[in-house]
Amino acid sequence: DLGPRAVLASRAKRGDALAQILTGRGGWGSQYPAFETIRAAGRLVPSRLGVATVDHALCREILRDRRFATVTPDDLGMPGPLRGILARTDPGLPNPVEPPAMLVSEPPDHTRYRQLVARSFTPRSIETMRDRVGELSRTLLDRLEQRPTAELIGEYATMLPVTVIAELLGLPDEAHEPFIEWGEQAAPLLDVGLDWRTFRRACGGLRSMDRYLRDHFARLRADGDAPGESDPSAAHPFTRLARDGELTERELITNAALLVGAGFETTVNLIGNGVVLLLQHPEQLAALREDPGGWPNAVEEILRFESPVQMTGRTATEPVTLADRDLPAGAVVSLLLAGANRDPAVFDRPGEFDITRTNARDNLAFGTGIHACIGAALARMEATVALPALFERFPDLGLATAPDPSQNVTLHGFRRVEVRLGRAR
Ligand code: HEM
Repeated sequence: DLGPRAVLASRAKRGDALAQILTGRGGWGSQYPAFETIRAAGRLVPSRLGVATVDHALCREILRDRRFATVTPDDLGMPGPLRGILARTDPGLPNPVEPPAMLVSEPPDHTRYRQLVARSFTPRSIETMRDRVGELSRTLLDRLEQRPTAELIGEYATMLPVTVIAELLGLPDEAHEPFIEWGEQAAPLLDVGLDWRTFRRACGGLRSMDRYLRDHFARLRADGDAPGESDPSAAHPFTRLARDGELTERELITNAALLVGAGFETTVNLIGNGVVLLLQHPEQLAALREDPGGWPNAVEEILRFESPVQMTGRTATEPVTLADRDLPAGAVVSLLLAGANRDPAVFDRPGEFDITRTNARDNLAFGTGIHACIGAALARMEATVALPALFERFPDLGLATAPDPSQNVTLHGFRRVEVRLGRAR
């Protein structure tokens, strides 16, 4: 079976640093030495899998250069089996990595999708969500109080982002649980080199999400037709989108599925990575307990140091000369954001976790340019609520077992984080 993992593994064996990163087989943190191999080789480094960079300035430049477009499955100049499996689903499915998902659309379509969806991400709606996330984290922590141990990914981190996205989409409470399952199934589509089993599961998740969202938006539209109703959800941005008909059903559902795919596991990983990093650096955690004003910067440092989205890519739409290299039209560049976040030209002692770092916020964890993460403020808010709430409630929190890394490469985080809770405050 020449699955994508096998193709990557054989390239990795022949010393291709990018392939080593993409196989994700070396265990937690094994990508960092491979990033340094690429850095030592130059700013823009050819590989059998395309060109790669871990250079902060260059990543930033390419993300802001309109001669580069986002990568769709068709663009991938990867070996045959990889191209086939990278996220090409049944034509009818709302695939978050194919147009009309805004992540892989270009202006003018992208501009239109982004402006409409951005109505759900105003500072005001994020502030409203802040109270909901605080309330929800208190409820979840209450449930853990009498317990000696907990698994914090499943029992805490997952519940916050899924609730936020469900509310953004105007979904009822009973939809949260199935959406956790479908979101977990579909999120690996954002990853590289899926095996067939994961891919089929992801398509299954999308299919269920598609069916549910079709009915959901049809219901919202039908309610909207009822004259004279005073529905409080009428002001809800996604409700309005469904009713206005400014987006086709396919555009609406694909971008809703994208929010589930992009906003869920990424944020879970930010929270999970933060828990683990702070438990591994108790003196920094103690400083945060002393001065909670340090939390926003600590979250930036968590984003920099263990970036939940490790990489993205761009395709040259015309011949481009960059960093002394000539890229032909169609060239795919791997932008290793997590490597850029450890660029010594920008960050002193980049391999040290330091929550007092003054330029931690220069990290590229959310990308930049027209596709910069639309949910960045939301994700930052969720982490700055969830992490302090957890550590305040359980002053003696500690790891019970070594945390279990997830198998995804692009989406970087833990599958399970078992902790001893200690007494509650
Ligand atoms: C785009 C990271 C949370 C929705 C992006 C991009 C990155 C990223 C790196 C840019 C990709 C590229 O340019 O190729 C993250 C991280 C998160 C997070 C690290 C959490 C810690 C969220 C949340 C949502 C979200 C909470 C929504 C609820 C999106 C969408 C895009 C995007 C829709 C595409 C934007 C566009 O193409 O204009 N994210 N994200 N993300 N993110 Fe996030």
